[in-house]
Amino acid sequence: MTTLPQINGFVPRDIAINRTDLSRAHHLSGDIYTSPQVYARELDEYFSKEWLFIGRVEQFDKPGDYQARRILGRPVLIAKNKAGVIQAFHNMCRHRGVEVAGGEGNARTFMCPYHGWTYDLDGKLVGAAYMGDSEGFDRATCRLPSIALDAWRGNLFINFAAQPKPFADAMADLERDFAMLHPERCRLADITRTTLRCNWKFFHENLMDYYHVGVLHAKTFGKRFSWTPENLVLKPSGGLTMRYLASPSTPDGVSLFGKAPWLANEENSFACTAFYPPNMTLFGRIDMVKIITAWPDGPDRCEVSIYMMFPEEFFAHDDFESKVAVYREYQKVIYDEDRSMIESMQKAMALPNYEPGRLSVMEKPIHHFLSRYVERMFGTNP
Ligand code: FES
Repeated sequence: MTTLPQINGFVPRDIAINRTDLSRAHHLSGDIYTSPQVYARELDEYFSKEWLFIGRVEQFDKPGDYQARRILGRPVLIAKNKAGVIQAFHNMCRHRGVEVAGGEGNARTFMCPYHGWTYDLDGKLVGAAYMGDSEGFDRATCRLPSIALDAWRGNLFINFAAQPKPFADAMADLERDFAMLHPERCRLADITRTTLRCNWKFFHENLMDYYHVGVLHAKTFGKRFSWTPENLVLKPSGGLTMRYLASPSTPDGVSLFGKAPWLANEENSFACTAFYPPNMTLFGRIDMVKIITAWPDGPDRCEVSIYMMFPEEFFAHDDFESKVAVYREYQKVIYDEDRSMIESMQKAMALPNYEPGRLSVMEKPIHHFLSRYVERMFGTNP
């Protein structure tokens, strides 16, 4: 008798995708996108183990620059110390757990607003009043707990694991496939943040869904987009890289800046994409690099951030900001087209009469991602 896979008593309705060729496969059942048990396992299995993109080094330009953020519900403090090293900490006072910093800015120290314990830029406790009589209390060994942080070509990643997998190993594919984009010679020009009422997987699935581009986006970038499944490189992690033909992300498909100097020999239609599970999709165009994250906030909601980077040389344009605004507004038009589709899908997942449909050959990337996802979540032969 076959034992059904389960997570904390939850048994999914249909996860046969990993045992079925693309030509015969169905999509996953709706419960994979709505179940609290599945969501809890995803946080443990993916988001607590993988290196996660959280921003750019230029967001921490000077010593003392910091950001206090909630990532996956956890308070996180990222700060640059006096030596110029960017570090991440659990933003949790060692006295009673209060967040010691909020928002972002520049600071010399972080003083907890509750009882005043004070930490330096390395997270070390440097002030704690009225603790002299507390037997055995050693201020020198008390510090904010660290979170692993490292950078690949200007892009910052954190890892919540106590013993993270080696960063160089995690970045090996990115380095091999996308060093030619030289993201370290680009700078952050814009961040767009938005909330989508959908499961985090749907957001990335949409970004690797080339089936919908010619339909939903027919009036925007779809008419300048071309790819074939042969140009797809599938990764054991469930991720992918791909080269295809597209155009700069402007209304008429013409770059407002020209080509990045290191892509001068490429056609204007140069385009590439990478998905690195669980939270990062990267796009390369002739004139920019874009990284998109989708942080889950429950099974049916995610916080999306779109980081737009341009070559440093472009920042000297007199009208740089107004040109960036054109890219930003056009991007909004496209993601608004996607939003209504993704949120509509999410609603369907909770309906008892939703039956997963068949996949098209154009959905090869999604088939790959979800097959590896099922194996990681439920075992290799569920
Ligand atoms: Fe921070 Fe008490 S909780 S000083």
